[in-house]
Amino acid sequence: MTDAQFRKIAGLVHQDSGIILSEAKRSLLMARLNRRLRVLGLPDYGAYCARLDGSDGPDERRHLLSAITTNVTAFFREAHHFRSLAQDVLPPMVAQARAGRRLRLWSAASSSGEEPYSIAITLLEAFPDAARHDVLLLSTDIDPEMVDRSRQGRFSADAVSPVPPAQLKRWFQPQGDGFEAKPDLRGLMRFAELNLHDAWPFQGRFDVIFCRNTAIYFDGTARQRLWQRFGEVMVEGGTLCIGHSERLDGPAAALFEPTGTTQYRRNARPAPARPS
Ligand SMILES: C[S@@+](CC[C@H](N)C(=O)[O-])C[C@H]1O[C@@H](n2cnc3c(N)ncnc32)[C@H](O)[C@@H]1O
Repeated sequence: MTDAQFRKIAGLVHQDSGIILSEAKRSLLMARLNRRLRVLGLPDYGAYCARLDGSDGPDERRHLLSAITTNVTAFFREAHHFRSLAQDVLPPMVAQARAGRRLRLWSAASSSGEEPYSIAITLLEAFPDAARHDVLLLSTDIDPEMVDRSRQGRFSADAVSPVPPAQLKRWFQPQGDGFEAKPDLRGLMRFAELNLHDAWPFQGRFDVIFCRNTAIYFDGTARQRLWQRFGEVMVEGGTLCIGHSERLDGPAAALFEPTGTTQYRRNARPAPARPS
């Protein structure tokens, strides 16, 4: 891969996703793209750059992001967030939802689904009658393949190994060599492809947002803008969970109070000024 090809591809990735591919990532990029070149039957990176410029370019840019993003995830990863959800965050929200208020949760970079299904299990254990109230868990990712996998809710035996046996029995059924999430979990969930840097199509606000191990790949401007936008779409008192090596920085930090390890509560909004 020539310098010019690397700069072109890294530039497109940054433009589309805010992800920075430093020079140190060049060999990773080449390894990931070699697979894509084989699938497309292209001889070299020059031909790939030409494809990015051609009529298939917009679609290919989605495949490019899919190839370079890291999808590592696990059930109940960073377990303290799920403990806190169950013990502190959800109980008052559940009481309000039972009294008629809507409850919205969002796993904003959900990868293959382990994170949103872990949230769904925690939610339904705290709120077994959730399906009778106005409760939804949105699961989104930039990568269409990951969104499909989340939607299917099928996991290998290896993937479900962090799920304790009683919970595995309660929330999953055997399917082939692996397991499939039961309909009561999936009934609360909605799945969509969403690039966090694009416009967001939401009408109402979120009570809980998980965006973990994703902003770490973004440059400072993109990351701080994302925190700001989370602040805008969250209810007062809502909870934001971010990844273990991330921190809420920039102006948006003033919108939140830390409430635990990489966990934050949305502050009250200032009262609107009264007309004099
Ligand atoms: C390392 S995984 C983290 C998965 C999960 N949140 C967790 O912590 O286990 C990062 C995910 O972020 C997604 N991603 C990367 N850039 C994104 C963007 N701009 N918008 C939405 N999702 C993005 C990737 O496709 C990938 O599934």
